[in-house]
Amino acid sequence: MNSVLVLNGPNLDLLGTRKPEVYGSATLADVEQLCRVRAAELGLDVQFRQSNHEGQLIDWVHEWGRRVRDGQAIGAVYNPGAHAHTSIALRDAIEGVELPVVEVHISNVHAREQFRHHSYISPVARGVVVGLGVLGYPLALTGLAELTRQPR
Ligand code: DQA
Repeated sequence: MNSVLVLNGPNLDLLGTRKPEVYGSATLADVEQLCRVRAAELGLDVQFRQSNHEGQLIDWVHEWGRRVRDGQAIGAVYNPGAHAHTSIALRDAIEGVELPVVEVHISNVHAREQFRHHSYISPVARGVVVGLGVLGYPLALTGLAELTRQPR
């Protein structure tokens, strides 16, 4: 079965308690459940991971790039958190292994502080889902499956 990675960056382990007026009340476990349901509907096996550490996230991007190259995975849905605004290293990792990524932000980063308006990840992403709350994750899974579908 083809796999998909759902990757979450720093502070997303705090979902549910961190600024609920911005990020809502769903927890990361709720997000995982939403993703598992949608992935099953799409016939995909989902791996769900979160880290607060840039190097760990880079290692997972490399691992999933290899899996995509080997035909075992279709890509990743990725909420980089604040790394979107800071991490050239994660951008280079995605570009370097040619990992198909759909970037997700729960909040509408463009309606927030100026420093959230730029993402290093967006130029190397296949698509971006912004501001739709945690619904953005299953939508991104649907989009990634569609974008990476093999022609029959
Ligand atoms: C976020 C937006 C980022 O600006 C922020 O640093 C996060 C969460 C979001 O999902 O809306 O940690 O990626």
